[in-house]
Amino acid sequence: MLKRPIIIDTDPGIDDALAIAIALFAEELDVRLITTVAGNVCLEHVTNNTLKLLHFLEKDVPVAAGASRPLIEPLVDASNVHGATGMEGFDFPEPKKELLLKENAVNAMYRVLMESDEPITLVPIAPLTNIAMLLSLYPEVKSKIKEIVLMGGSASRGNKGVMSEFNIATDPEAAKIVFDSGLPIVMAGLDVGWKALVYPEDSEKMKDMGKTGEMAYCLFKKYRGGSFNTGLKMYDSCAIAYLLRPELYTMEDAYVDIELSAGMTRGCTVVDLKGYLGKEPNTKVCMDIDGEAFRAWFLEYVGKCI
Ligand code: RIB
Ligand code: CA
Repeated sequence: MLKRPIIIDTDPGIDDALAIAIALFAEELDVRLITTVAGNVCLEHVTNNTLKLLHFLEKDVPVAAGASRPLIEPLVDASNVHGATGMEGFDFPEPKKELLLKENAVNAMYRVLMESDEPITLVPIAPLTNIAMLLSLYPEVKSKIKEIVLMGGSASRGNKGVMSEFNIATDPEAAKIVFDSGLPIVMAGLDVGWKALVYPEDSEKMKDMGKTGEMAYCLFKKYRGGSFNTGLKMYDSCAIAYLLRPELYTMEDAYVDIELSAGMTRGCTVVDLKGYLGKEPNTKVCMDIDGEAFRAWFLEYVGKCI
């Protein structure tokens, strides 16, 4: 089977951790590099969490640390959702420091992309600071990017602001650079993230599925992205699910822009489904997901992990 090469840009983050684990053990994917960016918690924590996770999963993927803050505004993290260190609730091994490259994330992404003999899919599941800097510093890299499949945004309401989703709202200027890039973008936003739920019975099944399932069960007890009893939102796994099961989704092509002006709607994704703005679509938007099929897929792929 031909594996699809991807680079994951992440801010673990409990939901990031499961998305990364699924991607690493999916035989359809080839994770060439993992880059980290400040988001859920600070850069040091998200980087250490990534190195701990790779040690635990016994996967030697190179890691490069990126931006420690958004382009313009200071970081406002989500430690209230993921815990102070970002991956609380499970006793991970020490971070595998030898996986951490000396290069920063932007230069590492540039090198890996330019050295690749085939275009690579970028999978940002975090604020878009690193991706924006990559495209700004090295525009020539666009020819080596197949697609950007990101978790972020919303065609409806927000989870950080009234209308804004966390990854986009944390760095709206970066998101604007990415959505204006002209690259093919798939947006897996809250419209599907809110329906990508894991229920207590799923967690109970995972507990006996091996070390990754046990890890998930422990992390989910601490995760505040929903409630353990009424359903936990697997936001970041939506981006991975798109790569592996695009048929789970109902898609719409739309022009998407980012509100940058100060005020109540700063950081929201303006998803123009009716063409009011007179602009050509620049994004494939995930508008709906088959929630039951997602649950089955999620359990199937957690079961492929160690
Ligand atoms: O809005 C959900 C996104 O914010 C996810 O990537 C989650 O990890 C948090 O970073
Ligand atoms: Ca994330």
